[in-house]
Amino acid sequence: MGEYMIDLKGVSKAFRKDQWVLDDIHLSILEKEFVTLLGPSGCGKTTTLRIIGGFEAATRGDVLFEGKSIRDLPPYERQINTVFQKYALFPHMNVFENIAFGLNIKRVPKEGIQKKVKDMLSLIDLKGFEKRRVHSLSGGQQQRVAIARALVNEPKVLLLDEPLGALDLQLRKEMQVELKKIQEQVGITFLYVTHDQEEALTMSDRVVVMNEGRIEQIGRPEDIYNEPKTPFVANFIGESNLFEGEMKQDNLVYFQGKRFQCVDKAFADTEKVFVVVRPEDVELTGKTNGIIEGEVLRTTFKGIHYEMMIKSLEDEKEWKVHSTERRTPGEVVGITVRPDLIHIMKRG
Ligand SMILES: Nc1ncnc2c1ncn2[C@@H]1O[C@H](COP(=O)(O)OP(=O)(O)O)[C@@H](O)[C@H]1O
Ligand SMILES: [Mg+2]
Repeated sequence: MGEYMIDLKGVSKAFRKDQWVLDDIHLSILEKEFVTLLGPSGCGKTTTLRIIGGFEAATRGDVLFEGKSIRDLPPYERQINTVFQKYALFPHMNVFENIAFGLNIKRVPKEGIQKKVKDMLSLIDLKGFEKRRVHSLSGGQQQRVAIARALVNEPKVLLLDEPLGALDLQLRKEMQVELKKIQEQVGITFLYVTHDQEEALTMSDRVVVMNEGRIEQIGRPEDIYNEPKTPFVANFIGESNLFEGEMKQDNLVYFQGKRFQCVDKAFADTEKVFVVVRPEDVELTGKTNGIIEGEVLRTTFKGIHYEMMIKSLEDEKEWKVHSTERRTPGEVVGITVRPDLIHIMKRG
């Protein structure tokens, strides 16, 4: 099975005895894929990258590169380069010298270096910046130089650990588009790390949601968003209303004391489930036309929509609702949800 670029086989890591920060990670990444590890701080994203890069050894499991174990290869013998959040450019060198650094070490002939650096500068849209000092560049430009410096070595895989974390929001968004373009142009595998769900959903072919050293779900951005497999994913990706419920028969779920049509089959007789409803998927109706009756507690204008907190009169549980239609606090409204917008996952 040589077709995977990177294949993590049951990778676990404990820095201290029996304290597992990675627990049985299985992850297969294809050639040219843009895969993102997404999860809260401390969930093990950086450790995973460091194991793939060779800066850290797995306690258990193996790392395959194009089908072969690279467990015992030092970092510089892996066809993998890393870009960190802190760009760590050499401050005493200009842009050209920074990008050429790895090539000089490999003793690439001068003309070769000239050409490759030039190609890189054009790739990162910094033509003519050869002689510029690093500190005279903006944060976004410095990060592009850091990416060029990694790509000039022609790795087959680029690891990027929160590379845009230090940039302000506007610049980050521009760089997200830029990075995606660069990845498509060079046509290599990117393994990207972020704790920012929007960033992950925007850039990736597939997203790997991690929590406490484990993989919660792997999927395309649409699937992760629309079909979260665990309550953690549902809460971490976007916003959601989470209820405890029961499936009593096919296409019918009970929660909040009511029955809702859904498109899921009962997994077993009276199976306990979690029910997830996105705020934007809640439909407001007249007070008696909904399945649930609720009282509007708060209404906040959010630019694109109103965010309303609505307390169910059934069991006092609050629903978060996004709608372009404004309802006034104190008003009693009806709530319904289209069957295919109700997401069911197993509980217990
Ligand atoms: N060198 C280390 N020694 C001990 N514990 C570490 C070391 N590196 C990371 N950890 C711990 O491993 C866990 C995962 O860390 P990390 O991979 O950096 O998470 P993330 O990048 O997702 O924020 C954290 O609890 C962190 O404290
Ligand atoms: Mg990290």
